[in-house]
Amino acid sequence: MSHVFLIGFMGAGKSTVGKIVAERLGLPFMDLDDTIEQSAGRSVREIFDSEGEATFRELESQALASLSDVEPSVVACGGGVVISPENRTMLKSSGIVVYLRVSAGETLARLGDDDTRPLLAGPGGLIAATALLDARESLYEAVADIAVETIGRTPDEVASTVAQFVAAEAA
Ligand code: S3P
Repeated sequence: MSHVFLIGFMGAGKSTVGKIVAERLGLPFMDLDDTIEQSAGRSVREIFDSEGEATFRELESQALASLSDVEPSVVACGGGVVISPENRTMLKSSGIVVYLRVSAGETLARLGDDDTRPLLAGPGGLIAATALLDARESLYEAVADIAVETIGRTPDEVASTVAQFVAAEAA
C-alpha cells in the first residue's frame, strides 16, 4: 500500500485525525511540518521569520519528495503543500489523498490563541484566512481522492470515514 496523505487548510485536524487513522490502519504516522522542523533544527515560525515563505516551501517540497524512501505511512501535510504543481503531482502519484474540509471561520475558532501559523499571524483575521482558503480550495479538491467534512464532526468520526475509504481503496 502507498501513503495516505491528509491535506486541507490549517485547523482542519490533519494531525489529530491522521494519528487516529494511522492507529486504526496499523500504519506509522508522520507530520510533514515536524519532519521539516527536525531536519531544519528550527520551528516553522522561525523559518518563516528568518528566511521567508519561499525557503519554507522549498524545505516542504524536499520533505515531501523524501517520502518516496519511507514505508507506507499516514502523512499529515501542511496546509500549503498543494500550492506547488510538483507537490500536487507527487501527492497524486504516491498515495491516497484525503482532503479534510474546514471553513476559515472554524479554523480561527479552532486555533484560538495558537500563534504557530505565520500566515494567520498578520492583521486581517477572518478576511485574510478566507482569501487564503478561497485561493486554495480548488487545488485541494483537484488533488483529492476523497473530501471529508470536518465541521460538526469529532476527530474520531472523521477518522472512521477516512479509514473506511482507505481500507476499501486498498482492498
Ligand atoms: C501552512 C500551514 C501550516 C504550516 C505553515 C504553512 C499553510 O501547517 O505548514 O504554517 O500555508 O497553510 P498546518 O496546515 O498543519 O497548520
